[in-house]
Order: sequence, then C-alpha cells, then structure tokens
Amino acid sequence: MLRGDYGPAAQKAMELLASIGDALNAEKLTPISSAHISGVSYTSIGDAGLLFLEDFAFLGARVKVFTSLNPAGIDLARWGSMGVKEDFYKKQKQILDAFHRMGVKLTCTCTPYLSGNSPKINSDVAWAESSAVVYVNSVLGARTNRETGPSALASAITGYTPLCGYHLDENRRGSHRIVLEFEPKTSLDVSVIGFLTGKYVVSGVPVFPKFKNLTFDHLKALSAGLATSGGISMFRISGNFEELEVEEEISIESSDVKEVLERYTANSLVNTVFFGCPHCSLSELRRVAFLLEGRRVKRDVRLWLFTSKSVYNQARRLGLIDLIEHAGGRVYCDTCPIVMPLYLLHGQVIATNSSKAAYYLTTLHGVDVSLLDINSCIRSYSVGG
Ligand code: F3S
Repeated sequence: MLRGDYGPAAQKAMELLASIGDALNAEKLTPISSAHISGVSYTSIGDAGLLFLEDFAFLGARVKVFTSLNPAGIDLARWGSMGVKEDFYKKQKQILDAFHRMGVKLTCTCTPYLSGNSPKINSDVAWAESSAVVYVNSVLGARTNRETGPSALASAITGYTPLCGYHLDENRRGSHRIVLEFEPKTSLDVSVIGFLTGKYVVSGVPVFPKFKNLTFDHLKALSAGLATSGGISMFRISGNFEELEVEEEISIESSDVKEVLERYTANSLVNTVFFGCPHCSLSELRRVAFLLEGRRVKRDVRLWLFTSKSVYNQARRLGLIDLIEHAGGRVYCDTCPIVMPLYLLHGQVIATNSSKAAYYLTTLHGVDVSLLDINSCIRSYSVGG
C-alpha cells in the first residue's frame, strides 16, 4: 500500500498510519474489524475538512471494513424545521456525499454500538469519538485507541491500525481503584463521577465497584464523562473490588459531585432542556415519554432530545416519539447541539443531564448551562400530571 500498489488513496492513508505508528513505537499494524469516524459536522471541520474528504473520495478511496459515522450538523430529514440555513445544509450534504462515495454508513451517531457497529470482544477496531471509544473498550471489550477522524478514516480505507496502546493486553489492566463513598442513583451522578475520575486519573484504566442498579445507560454516561475531562479511554468494573491490586486509590464523595453540579448552574432562566449526549438509547426515550405522560412542556421552554436514526425508528414504532412530541418535545436524529450550526444556540440557556454536553456547551460555545437529572428537568420544565 505504501508503494502505491493499491492506488493513491490507500497509499495516502497508509502514509498517515505509518507515521502515527512510528510516533507511537508500534511494532506493526493489526487488522481491524470495524471503524467509526468523527469530524463529520461542517461546524467542526469547515471547508478544509470538506476538501480533505472530497480529495480522498476523488482518489477512489473505499472503506474495507464496516465503518460508521459520528453526528453531522443537521437532522438529515428535518433540518429546515430545526432552523438550519440552506448554505449550511448544502455543505453538510457535500461532506456526507463524500463519505457515502467511500462506502461509509451514514449512521450519524455517537452511539454506533446501538446502530449496527457492535464489534466482538477482543477484536481490534479503529474508533474515533471519545465517548464511544471508552464504551467499546470497556463495555464491549473490543480494542481501540482514541483515534482522530483522519486516522479512523485511514484505518477504514486500509483495514489496519498501529498495534499499540489499548490494543495491547498490558495497557488494559486496571491502574486506579475508584472508591465511591455514596451510591450513585441517576445517569447524571454517574456522568459526573466519570467527569471527576477523568480529571484525577491522567492515564491508565480506572476500576469502579459494581454499584446497585447499574444499567447500560449508566455505562454510556460514565464513558462520556470519563472521556470529557481527560485522556482516559477505558475503565473496568470489578465484582472483586476489595482484592484488586492497583497502583492508586481515589475516593469520590457525594460532596464532590455536588460541587460540580453547583458549578454548572445557569445564571439566567433555562429556556431549553436537552437530553441525548451521547445520543439517547431506547430506554432513555421510553423514560422521558413515561415521565411526560399527562404533562406538557412549559410554553417558554423547548425540550430537545437527540438520538440515532435507528433508535428513533424503533421508538417511533413503539409510539414513544408521538408521546414525547404531543407533550411538546422534539426528537431529532443525526446531530447534537454541540455540532449544530452555532446560530441555533443563540440566546439559549440550557439544562442537560450530561456532563460532556455541559462542558462543551460552556467551553466551546459560551452557553449558560445547568446540570440536572432527567426527573428534575421534566418536573421543573413541564406542567400537568
Ligand atoms: Fe454525541 Fe454530541 Fe455528545 S456527538 S457524545 S451528543 S457532544
């Protein structure tokens, strides 16, 4: 491939992987079974990114493995009703067309594991999107480093990734025991525990105790929280927690979580409630629909939920979308507020249950944000019942 025997696209992709492999002292490359690419929204990659992708597509690049895509800047079906302007839509469409020509599945979600990209345990993959990276390493047991959009694309095109980092057994062992001095109850608690752990553990694999009523939504929230505040790409949950041999122990108390929640308290009145960072699962949509039963979102507030097309379709068949939308909420696919056109965020004061969303909305976009769990949001920003 490096010599160009497989064409210019594979050569360019292999040059990138070879230089990354050299920089990371990888002994060799390893074949991958799937890829997930980030850097999809026109808000994030702009014209330079669009040009890069069109160049690759023009050179005849085709992905060799199942390859999914992170959220775009728009709901592909309802971008007009979201308030997206036509020029943004056209640019976004060009980006997606380039990916499509390369054979990438236009899943447009940060939860690809709920949309058909579900690799086998111990298989090597090349995934970008930090929250999905943590989830795939920790929950599914596949192996990936935290790839960037271009490196994940290069791996998808060649079918290989450098064999180093989290692909190797020695880097997947638990390094820090995280002692929870309280019982986490909500996804928000777990999200903030992840956020705090990511700050304390600079590198390594934190190990959490098995806590009561642990759900997949908790694991999704933990993955996103961990990925937000540091470089962690994997965690473990241990049933044998007390006997664990690890380098260090870190305690997290309920007051630590409270402190983060107090830091994220909006200064003005909330006018938007946002769930779905990472994209909502079916059980989260079911929960919101259930909580909204017999209630209506307050007139001066909008309730936005974000999910993948595949979860949306399942929820629609179950009548959950209708329930949420009849109560005044809106469920969008393919995008999220962090990667939408920035003008859609003007004047918004947001309440969300995701530490990742709160962090990026404040630091990247200067939005005023409150962190609240789903129950409190529905109770505070809807009426009836
Ligand atoms: Fe997904 Fe957007 Fe959050 S891509 S993880 S919903 S910032």
